[in-house]
Amino acid sequence: MDTNVQKRRENKKSLRVKVISLGNAEVGKSCIIKRYCEKRFVPKYLATIGIDYGVTKVQVRDREIKVNIFDMAGHPFFYEVRNEFYKDSQGVILVYDVGLRESFDALDSWLTEMKQEMGSQANMENIIFVVCANKVDLTKRRVVDESEGRLWAESRGFHYFETSAQSGEGINEMFQAFFSSITDMCENGGKRPTPEVSVGFTKEQADTIRRIRSSKDSWDMLGVKPGATREEVNKAYRKLAVLLHPDKCVAPGSEDAFKAVVNARTSLLKNINEESFRTPT
Ligand code: GTP
Ligand code: MG
Repeated sequence: MDTNVQKRRENKKSLRVKVISLGNAEVGKSCIIKRYCEKRFVPKYLATIGIDYGVTKVQVRDREIKVNIFDMAGHPFFYEVRNEFYKDSQGVILVYDVGLRESFDALDSWLTEMKQEMGSQANMENIIFVVCANKVDLTKRRVVDESEGRLWAESRGFHYFETSAQSGEGINEMFQAFFSSITDMCENGGKRPTPEVSVGFTKEQADTIRRIRSSKDSWDMLGVKPGATREEVNKAYRKLAVLLHPDKCVAPGSEDAFKAVVNARTSLLKNINEESFRTPT
């Protein structure tokens, strides 16, 4: 075959992509990358200073992908260094530590920082995000459960993986899904293809589960004022039951949310009954 034709074909099959890692300091970003690229784990914490850069080659279907990895420092001190590196990313690895709630809560502010730094380029539709719920090997200290993390990720159209850089759990699966989605996106002209299977739940369902999880008492959970009547409680319950019934809702955490709503209604109605017995007629 003409060598030029052969070269052109090879070029067509090879891709260059840029990915970045984001998340609070010490959540395990560098260790996840090291586990994948070097197949090893370093227990000692060596904070990334500003940025670490590395290149790896991976094969996705018939394409060779050259991946430029920019591993960001999570510490706020390095903001001035890392803010240069957000632009032109095709993929983002968002990491939190399942044993540190603040690292999970911080995911929103990492997205905000990214959007801000990308400026007019900030089209999140053209970036593949993968969320790593990391350090799952440390089961006893876990405070953010799978359904909560999965809900956060999947309601935004992001991949979700439970990972441990220490044991290697989930790491290869996560990178394979990540690179495969990035390749699909590049083959689709740089736009995230519409997923073949939709997430299967609505934003309203996701928001309701989150609200139920953070409610302070049974009144709050059902969304009624303290002292509401039986009818008001039942009406609010029915609305939530239709939204969250396990036959209707596949959002992560919906089953627990549904059970919590049933329990809240039972305890409120019990109190309303007892009070009405006590009230002289
Ligand atoms: P910065 O570079 O400061 O932003 O931190 P980082 O997110 O890159 O964290 P790093 O990968 O350096 O890991 C921080 C600490 O957590 C190190 O002591 C690691 O050994 C430990 N660590 C990382 N991943 C895991 C894991 O999956 N399980 C356990 N048990 N420890 C982990
Ligand atoms: Mg690091």
